[in-house]
Amino acid sequence: MRFTLSLFLLRMFIGPILRAHCEQDWSFPKDFRIGAASAAYQVEGGWNASGKGENNWDWFTHNKPWSIADQSNGDVACDSFHKYKEDVAILKDIGFNFYRFSISWSRIFPTGFSNKISKEGIQYYHDLIDELRSNGIEPFVTIYHWDHPQILEQMGGWVNELMVDSFTDFSRLVFQEFGPKVKYFATINEPSSFCSGGYGGTLKAPAWNLTLNAEYMCMHNVLKAHAKAYHMYDQEFRSTQNGKIGIVLPCQYYFGQDNNDTVTPDIAFQYDCGWMAHPIFSKVGDYPKIMRKRIDENSRIQGWPRSRLPTFTQKEVEYIRGTADYFGLNHYTSYIAVPVKRETGKVWENDRGYYQTVDPKWPVSASSWLKVVPEGFGNILRRITKEYGKLPIYVTENGYADHGSLNDIERIKYYYGYLKEMLVAINDGCNVKVYIAWSIIDNFEWQDGYKNRFGIVHVDFNDPGRKRTYKKSAKWYKDLLKSRKLLPVHNYTNNN
Ligand code: NOJ
Repeated sequence: MRFTLSLFLLRMFIGPILRAHCEQDWSFPKDFRIGAASAAYQVEGGWNASGKGENNWDWFTHNKPWSIADQSNGDVACDSFHKYKEDVAILKDIGFNFYRFSISWSRIFPTGFSNKISKEGIQYYHDLIDELRSNGIEPFVTIYHWDHPQILEQMGGWVNELMVDSFTDFSRLVFQEFGPKVKYFATINEPSSFCSGGYGGTLKAPAWNLTLNAEYMCMHNVLKAHAKAYHMYDQEFRSTQNGKIGIVLPCQYYFGQDNNDTVTPDIAFQYDCGWMAHPIFSKVGDYPKIMRKRIDENSRIQGWPRSRLPTFTQKEVEYIRGTADYFGLNHYTSYIAVPVKRETGKVWENDRGYYQTVDPKWPVSASSWLKVVPEGFGNILRRITKEYGKLPIYVTENGYADHGSLNDIERIKYYYGYLKEMLVAINDGCNVKVYIAWSIIDNFEWQDGYKNRFGIVHVDFNDPGRKRTYKKSAKWYKDLLKSRKLLPVHNYTNNN
């Protein structure tokens, strides 16, 4: 009995002290910014409020509801269009001083074109930005987070090169209106997600499913549009507004099937990340050589008159290269890249020559594509640094999906593991300056509707008032932001 009691006391009192001593002090660097994010279509709702025009996601969810897991849409979403003050109060209370959100294109250009501008639409973002600033929260504006006027989609969307000018018109208005108050801009969020998912596949609007064809055309236009907006900012706004502008790219980490295979992970990195990053961040610009070679070869064998991967002129290569003040990285998960042997005269598997799989031992999340692999985060930060140099990296998204539990310990574990790897990478010399958690509140998770939740704050989508409730991870973040230290998960695993 006495022995059991002393063991109990030892565990209760000595345990935490021992643990605290064994755990390193994971503090965040002084000038390091920590924020949270959302995106217009995923949170705003108010889909036809104050004259907003129809966008591609309104059309897609209304006309093809079976494309969304729970047949839902963003008509009301979190109702942030009306409840933005509450969102800002939540950000402030948790202690974030950085908020990344996006602008709804069709709320500002209801007809899709710049000849008609919605004053109310613009006012909404002024109000949001003012509310943030007066609460000491720095706004970070994503100009385009996947929603564009439906009329532009009818005209071919991102596969039509005219989108480049439409996007420039929209960006100009965003800089003119909000640039005096906003110092952080991202042009376009995760191009490969909507190019491959939407034009190449069926997961995202417009679900064209033109695999290995339209997605390359989409990316070609996206890169041109991004570069044009960057140059415009440089020439017309930078001297007076003095902000930072970049692009947000989703890059996974690829492991080899065995430790000896370093070649396939490298090829996978080029197809996954380099497709978007190489033209902008590499010294030479243009698409990665391996993509050029393999897609050109495949196109020839398949009898295409020219490569399915479009070509940039040398002038365009120069125009696109170097168009970013930071590398915006969205990172959630990792894969294993497995090479597929190419028989002589036959095509490269999937234009790539590898397929991707996962380690069954990796912990899962509610999203089938998201496995928990913290070491992959450190690896991708080091890989990007090695490949593109020391330009600041802003982690613009990172987060974990479950089904909405308030006791979201798995989310805390995820954040702890990933943030720790990031701090190690910073120690290793990676120039990471910003970290933004996805997401501040549960929201419309595209094809997964409201089934999969990424928020650190729960939203009740059955409640007309869209009640917000803190999850345990919000409490964890609150403590982290106060101490500016990574706090051990075990303090949160009990019911405290
Ligand atoms: C990346 C996208 O930018 C965001 O909109 C999405 O909700 C998260 N990934 C999670 O899937």
